Amino acid sequence: MVVTSVGPVSFQIRRGAPVLAGDMVAASHGVRRERELAAVNAAADPSSGRAVYWTFGDVARRGDRKRLLDAPVTYDLTFMSPRTLGQQLPRTHGHVHASEGPDGAGFAEVYEVLSGRAGFLMHDLGPGPSVSLGVLVNAEPGDVVAVPPDVYHATLNLGPTMLVVADLVCRRATDVYVALRAAGGMAYGLDAAGRVAVNPRYHRLPPLQRLSVEEWGAGMKDGLYERLLMDPGAFEWLCHRAAFATRFPKAARWVGSVVD
Ligand SMILES: [Fe+2]
Repeated sequence: MVVTSVGPVSFQIRRGAPVLAGDMVAASHGVRRERELAAVNAAADPSSGRAVYWTFGDVARRGDRKRLLDAPVTYDLTFMSPRTLGQQLPRTHGHVHASEGPDGAGFAEVYEVLSGRAGFLMHDLGPGPSVSLGVLVNAEPGDVVAVPPDVYHATLNLGPTMLVVADLVCRRATDVYVALRAAGGMAYGLDAAGRVAVNPRYHRLPPLQRLSVEEWGAGMKDGLYERLLMDPGAFEWLCHRAAFATRFPKAARWVGSVVD
């Protein structure tokens, strides 16, 4: 079986599905099938059991595990098939991060592309449903992209190969789906030719702004795994809602209407 290494991650494809290889282990693992995406993506076939993407939570090499489990953030992986959903490029379900409890504070997240070409789709979600700002950041292997707190986000596979992305998020954050499901999913998608396909359920939404990582202004240079291993507290700021605007004032301006 061929082992592929992308950044710190080694994996094999077994019966079409990625399996972690080498000494990498994950605390949790999930699969999203096409039928599970039908409620949030009109292009998805509600009768199809095909796997669209696979998630691995709290991933670490065995020898690093104790150190990384003590970090305030988790290192997670998503693998996404390049196969289209109907006429649309594949994308994740979409969600926002909040904490349980009365404050419900939002959490930022940081993504790194390990292999393939990704689009990081982000927008706010108002009544209607409506959107005041929609952004798609195009990213390549080695690119690191930060997503602000309180912003709904989904990852798209823009390329012809398996997309592999890593992300860091605060351990206190939970994925929240309810409002997005009620809205019929993310406000925008892309068709197979890369053209924007708007979700007709939305009553008001501006044109999608397509940006490079540089234009987005919330990128980083370091590989996330190595940085986290070197200093498990380095991303503690992801657990503090106000820290995003301090670190990334340019991207915070883009989302000024939703990040106070
Ligand atoms: Fe997320």
